[in-house]
Amino acid sequence: MNKYNEYFGFKSEPFMNNLPAKKLLELPGMIGVKERIKYILNLGGIMVVTGEVGSGKSSSLRWSTSHLHKSEVLVLNVIGSNGSIIEFYKQIGWELGVDINSASRTKIIKMIKEVIRDIVASKKQKILLIVDEASLLRPEIFAEIHTLTQFNEDSSNMITIVFSGQSNLIDKFKYRSSAPLASRVMGKIHLTSINRDQMEEYVLHHLKAAGVKKMLFSETAITAIQQGSGGILRRANFLAKGGLVACSIDREDIVTAEHIRIASTELL
Ligand SMILES: Nc1ncnc2c1ncn2[C@@H]1O[C@H](COP(=O)(O)OP(=O)(O)OP(=O)(O)O)[C@@H](O)[C@H]1O
Ligand SMILES: [Mg+2]
Repeated sequence: MNKYNEYFGFKSEPFMNNLPAKKLLELPGMIGVKERIKYILNLGGIMVVTGEVGSGKSSSLRWSTSHLHKSEVLVLNVIGSNGSIIEFYKQIGWELGVDINSASRTKIIKMIKEVIRDIVASKKQKILLIVDEASLLRPEIFAEIHTLTQFNEDSSNMITIVFSGQSNLIDKFKYRSSAPLASRVMGKIHLTSINRDQMEEYVLHHLKAAGVKKMLFSETAITAIQQGSGGILRRANFLAKGGLVACSIDREDIVTAEHIRIASTELL
């Protein structure tokens, strides 16, 4: 561990990027994501999560899905890229445990749907496909992916798809070719920045998660983190961490607004 961790008595790295789901702070946006997923799972539709870079989208999804019973819902996690549609289907196949080696999109879709139908029928599980970084996906994927949700039998709720990405993800749903997909969207949520009071709670939460119960930041330091980060969580992490380093170098006990200012000079 770094020197500043010893200095403040942290048991683990503070302001970690990969806090386990159960250690995340229950922010209103996360609760909104969880409730919508629960609602849409019952109907089998499409949902969209947007938010600025580092606003907590992936963490919200991780937290929300950690509350689902594995015996009831099979979660498939796919990361969007600008790769081909076949590569995208391969990722879904991989998550479903099937090796996709066909070059025909029609065959691949048929194969994926058969596996989904089997899982729903035999294991009585619902399928939840989470597509993170979806703003990177090619338009042709938005034009075609809805076919995965179409089944002949009246079981429209076999698969639920959550698309998550930066705010420009919404634009991808506005293309003419995305209309069939857009018409199936039943819920959308935009994760907003957190306010000053939530920031105080957030900072304290991260300190506790790393084993320090005492508030190590002054009131003005919290305000400086809030202003410097614009209420965006990942930026707040960097500022808080940088503030701790600057404070330990000064051999002081409490991080001040000046320490946060020093830390902010390192951010792009
Ligand atoms: N509920 C939470 N409790 C504690 N920390 C959180 C929470 N949500 C997010 N964070 C912190 O904020 C960081 C950024 O969150 P996350 O990676 O989920 O954002 P994102 O919106 O998915 O970012 P990107 O746009 O880069 O994909 C996380 O690494 C974590 O440290
Ligand atoms: Mg993310």
